[in-house]
Amino acid sequence: MSVSNRPEILAEGSSFLSIADLSVEQVLGLVDLGSEFRSGFNAGVRDFEMLGGKTVVSLFYENSTRTRLSFERAIRLLGGEFYNFDVSDSSVAKGESLRDTAMVLEALGFSAIVMRHPGEGTANQVNNWVDIPVINAGDGCHEHPAQALGDLLTILDHHNSPEVLGGLKVCFVGDVVHSRVARSVSLILSKFGAEISFAGPPEMVSDNPYGRVMRELDDVIADVDVLYLLRVQRERLDDPGGLDLPSYVRRFQLNYGRRLKLKENVTILHPGPMNIGVEVDAYVSRDFAMLAPDQVRNGVFARMAVMSQILGGKP
Ligand code: CP
Repeated sequence: MSVSNRPEILAEGSSFLSIADLSVEQVLGLVDLGSEFRSGFNAGVRDFEMLGGKTVVSLFYENSTRTRLSFERAIRLLGGEFYNFDVSDSSVAKGESLRDTAMVLEALGFSAIVMRHPGEGTANQVNNWVDIPVINAGDGCHEHPAQALGDLLTILDHHNSPEVLGGLKVCFVGDVVHSRVARSVSLILSKFGAEISFAGPPEMVSDNPYGRVMRELDDVIADVDVLYLLRVQRERLDDPGGLDLPSYVRRFQLNYGRRLKLKENVTILHPGPMNIGVEVDAYVSRDFAMLAPDQVRNGVFARMAVMSQILGGKP
């Protein structure tokens, strides 16, 4: 499969740490390249033959289904090898540090490290310790950059040009303070001038430099083009028992009743995994406007775009 020759978007050998580091041109180039990989995949291509001899290893200190598997899928579709390093049965359990672990992976000859860690800034830290590319697959409450690229591809499928993005009203609902997804996706949409708001109680939505703060979902719901539901991350709450769940559900859950108030052509996103019965009810979780499955699928193509650039995959 030939993927069109295009100017370099990300420097070969560079790391991929944050949406904040990318220009609008780089974002558009990556989304466009991801879309091209998707066309090839839809036409039946299963080996893009771009990363022969390249080996990527995962280093995940937090659980994952979508992110780890979509990086694996992306690397294999590009013709590279992917090694799943299981931290839980490794020498990390004997006390080996993050720095030493990363240096072992480099010494083993891997071409790149895809990492997830509960600490903000850890991907940047590891990037300072090793000379191979580091890809941030989620660092605490900070960033989740590849998720944002896949989500942008999904949003563009329905609101279909970068110019349209500038007129979109996007509301993130729920646990914004703990959400690296909300940070990265709102950052990427801000680059295109989308009008962004955040809806949630004060313990989940503090003052936010990227958009308006709404204390009731019902005050904004009829006006949005994209509603981005966030998972309530009980594992990151300082006092999970202090969460007034019935109040949260009453005011912020997207349920059948609230669904009826949304615009006809609205799109609903959720990064997964969903807490059915908390931020969303079972009815809406299966709604045709709920694009979570598309987000997962497009995440593979967005990651193919990133990894092919970083690892120098040539068409
Ligand atoms: N969206 C996301 O990061 O999902 P996982 O935790 O399953 O990787």
